[in-house]
Amino acid sequence: MLCDKLPRAKLTYLPTPLEEAPRLSAALGGARIWIKRDDRTGLTFGGNKPRIFEYVLGDALAQGCDLTITPAGPQSNHLREVTAAANRLGMKSVLVICGTDGSGPAQGNSLLFRLLGAEIHTFPDWDLDAYYGPELMAFVEELAETYRERGYKPYHVHFGLRAGLLGCAAHVTAAEELAAQFAALGMEPDFLYVPTGSGVTTSGYVLGFKHLGLRTRVVGVGLIYSEREAVREVVRFANLTAEELGLDTRVEPGDFAMLDVHDRPGYGIVTPEVIEAVRLCAVHEGILLDPVYNGRAMAALIEEVRHGRLGQDRTAVLVHTGGVPALFAQNEALMAE
Ligand SMILES: Cc1ncc(COP(=O)(O)O)c(C=O)c1O
Repeated sequence: MLCDKLPRAKLTYLPTPLEEAPRLSAALGGARIWIKRDDRTGLTFGGNKPRIFEYVLGDALAQGCDLTITPAGPQSNHLREVTAAANRLGMKSVLVICGTDGSGPAQGNSLLFRLLGAEIHTFPDWDLDAYYGPELMAFVEELAETYRERGYKPYHVHFGLRAGLLGCAAHVTAAEELAAQFAALGMEPDFLYVPTGSGVTTSGYVLGFKHLGLRTRVVGVGLIYSEREAVREVVRFANLTAEELGLDTRVEPGDFAMLDVHDRPGYGIVTPEVIEAVRLCAVHEGILLDPVYNGRAMAALIEEVRHGRLGQDRTAVLVHTGGVPALFAQNEALMAE
């Protein structure tokens, strides 16, 4: 395995299944669709994070840290899973919930990370466009200092720091897992659709597939950054990680595609297309997609089918990166006609 030299904590049940979705394909009348069931990686409700935290908290433990301190938005899957992972590894989880004073309803992920017993701080004055702005970083650092004074050794979980590279590495390992599944099935799909936020997860598949020589083209569905920024971030994480792993492979923008849906109509907003994608997958396959990441990515895939770019001679795999608790936080939007 390409990442064997990195410290890794055990948090997942791998490999996750790779399942065909024949009824969904038939209903759409287009490409053969498969779903990589990373909603079943482990921890609470699975997703891409258990893979990521195996390497990130493996690194934290190797450094002797006993506390994670993690900033993110109020419905963050990342905050739920970092807390579950810390609990499993005997660490303390401190969260900085951004963009809220903490008075909103405890629903979806915000219910779950409270049930998981995270210690919660808030940072209300926050803007998604400046995710890791200097004010937030300074706040986290001051908070970390108060825990150091209490005898803890904190690890700042932040994709702008080492965690980004390690999250990419986790998905290089996922790419190796998928490549073995493709080989066992005797197939090499045309496309791998991955919902793209920070770009960490997508970068691991892009680097892994390129290094392994797979022809399957990774298609990021950019949900937070503009296309240019998302491409830049994927390339940056991939090449930092390639260097860390001692690989000769380097990633360039032309190695993958990025569909830009981030401003249609904005991060986390449930559109009629997302509702349709969630319902089609649920009704035809009995699989629940989340409305923020995978519902959007599946909606983008469906759009490609309807525009004739993913015909019956094509095969596309969606990586289901989890996030299912957001269904409960978005119940009203999802039931709207
Ligand atoms: C369920 C889910 N899918 C996909 C992503 C995007 O992953 P990345 O930030 O690595 O691009 C996230 C990130 O928060 C997520 O929670």
